[in-house]
Amino acid sequence: MLDAANAAVARPTGSVDGLVELASPDMKGVNALISARMQSPVSVIPALADHLINAGGKRLRPLLTVAAARLLGATDESCLKLAAAVEFIHTATLLHDDVVDSSQLRRGKVAAHLIWGAPSSVLVGDYLFARAFELMVEAGSLRALDILAKAAGVISEGEVLQLTRAHDLNLSQDVYLEIIRAKTAELFAAAAEAGAVSAGASDDHCRSMRSYGLSLGLAFQLVDDALDYGGATETLGKNAGDDFREGKATLPLLLAIARTGAAEAPFWERTIGRREQTDDDFRRARDLIARTGAAEATLDLAHQFAEEAKAALARMDDNSWRTALEDLADFAVSRRA
Ligand code: IPE
Ligand code: IPE
Ligand code: MG
Ligand code: MG
Repeated sequence: MLDAANAAVARPTGSVDGLVELASPDMKGVNALISARMQSPVSVIPALADHLINAGGKRLRPLLTVAAARLLGATDESCLKLAAAVEFIHTATLLHDDVVDSSQLRRGKVAAHLIWGAPSSVLVGDYLFARAFELMVEAGSLRALDILAKAAGVISEGEVLQLTRAHDLNLSQDVYLEIIRAKTAELFAAAAEAGAVSAGASDDHCRSMRSYGLSLGLAFQLVDDALDYGGATETLGKNAGDDFREGKATLPLLLAIARTGAAEAPFWERTIGRREQTDDDFRRARDLIARTGAAEATLDLAHQFAEEAKAALARMDDNSWRTALEDLADFAVSRRA
């Protein structure tokens, strides 16, 4: 108990405040682009998009694009279009993801598919993808377009792979990591790399930025998966317990299954394998995940990836942008929302 408490205290707690402040003039431009480009004469499109986009969201991925570009010396505004495109790709995947996951709450608001229906949600997601591609073309870098286009494909691969492996009580940690790399970390990696590319950075610096984004994204999704059991719906802005109800094989669950052994095998087989759940089952799963140290182990792994992310910045100029990105890595593992 003491060790666990000490381990928690020893973890650095980061913040995005510095990054948000530094990037504030750029993000004004990015947000203006987002508002302008989600418009359409087909009124359901801006209504639905506005519902999600103006509900907030941390805007971490566009912040990453802007920060990577500025850290690597960009003086023009081409990174703003890429950053807006990155947020559109992210927003599109959220619209699709909430349909796939049957999630009811997103950014503290009722999920769009419950208001406008799943078909509209999916189609508006497609529209935002299309708008993202226009912005990428306008940004004028074929290399950045290549990076982000590939990422969009990889995200879909990750979501489909996850779908085919849901309810798999024996999913290996390697396959789990492959899923979260594809569905989440790849966009963080591409967002950072595209920013570096738009700044005309060296191949070496572009590679380092990509590797920073990839490790950050892995840490971010591991924490997301831990928060689905340990977080509070009010701060998350999405319902805790969604992963359990969907029978999603995430690391905290897989570790708890392995650590509780034969004693709890019938419980996991019923609730995840067959998805027969009662109201009390999520509470029991959450207790087992906490009690077996599965949540702590998931956060430990996230912490390792955050350290790898910071290490990837080691050969960059040591300026306020770099410090802000280091803080972002710490934030990714200490966040509650
Ligand atoms: C949610 O991402 C999807 C995951 C990859 C876990 P964020 O937590 O960045 O969502 P918003 O944009 O802040 O709402
Ligand atoms: C997020 O995975 C991945 C994408 C949106 C592509 P999750 O399903 O864990 O994200 P949340 O928890 O719904 O935000
Ligand atoms: Mg989801
Ligand atoms: Mg989640």
